[in-house]
Amino acid sequence: MVTSVAPSPRVESLSSSGIQSIPKEYIRPQEELTSIGNVFEEEKKEEGPQVPTIDLKEIESEDPEVREKCRQELKKAAMDWGVMHVVNHGISDELIQRVKKAGQKFCELPIEEKEKYANDQASGKIQGYGSKLANNASGQLEWEDYFFHLIFPEDKRDLSIWPKIPRDYTEVTSEYARELRGLASKILSALSICLGLEEGRLEKEVGGMEELLLQMKINYYPKCPQPELALGVEAHTDVSALTFILHNMVPGLQLFYEGKWVTAKCVPNSIIMHIGDTIEILSNGKYKSILHRGLVNKEKVRISWAVFCEPPKEKIILKPLPELVSETEPPLFPPRTFDQHIQHKLFRKTQDGLSN
Ligand SMILES: [Fe+2]
Repeated sequence: MVTSVAPSPRVESLSSSGIQSIPKEYIRPQEELTSIGNVFEEEKKEEGPQVPTIDLKEIESEDPEVREKCRQELKKAAMDWGVMHVVNHGISDELIQRVKKAGQKFCELPIEEKEKYANDQASGKIQGYGSKLANNASGQLEWEDYFFHLIFPEDKRDLSIWPKIPRDYTEVTSEYARELRGLASKILSALSICLGLEEGRLEKEVGGMEELLLQMKINYYPKCPQPELALGVEAHTDVSALTFILHNMVPGLQLFYEGKWVTAKCVPNSIIMHIGDTIEILSNGKYKSILHRGLVNKEKVRISWAVFCEPPKEKIILKPLPELVSETEPPLFPPRTFDQHIQHKLFRKTQDGLSN
């Protein structure tokens, strides 16, 4: 007998259908529900630890003292939180507004139009428009649809699958990718120097200009009739080296810091930057890859633009750099390719899923 699995509907179509209660696949397990609150209330909370804001204005200052102070602040945030709002990052606000406008226009197209760009995860075509497929026995789904594509290096892009509407999508997204690639280099240099490494070391270890891949995921979180029961993105750490995130100023991101979920504030003209697992491994755990998740709400659509800077899947073996390992600081991570690291995480998750 041939059995076929019906594809999960787009979350946007569920949202606009007027349902009052969400399908069971979107309801989080009981133990998770106790920590999910109203995101607008959560964002207002002023007490307790807050995601740091790092001003990069002086990161390349001519004055060594001024430059060093800026680097030390970046280092502290990378070691303590592994996530931060970066301001004065050097990418113009005008370009960022254009990127957001173009992505938003695509997201606002009718679903039938976006389906023309649908990915096909079963056949390995991962770029394009999609929604999460259940990857474990519990069939758990997330309240979001997305558009995913490689944006840098330019010779590795497949422009044929990029949105053709709006017409300036490719131009503005390409320019943003180039600017972000420059920012990634600047950050990697500073993070290297702060560990006593040569300036270009981390950049080289993650693949350099030719091999480090920038993958953009535009996350579209429709309004959710029961936001207290769902998550836009379940708790995870990023596998990337670095991740850069823009959003439409609707809160949603939460970070698991000192045993509690902390809601990131919406900081004007900032880019959220995560240290991912790749840098955590290379730095032997000195820089942190923090656990995070995304909440949804019933009042406003949230859109975020995440760019994952990732090493090549097979070409590089990731392991703690020998300079950062000693008898008193043994390696905390075994050598693995990036792909092996991803598979290891999936395996661990499946195990957890089965034991629930
Ligand atoms: Fe993430």
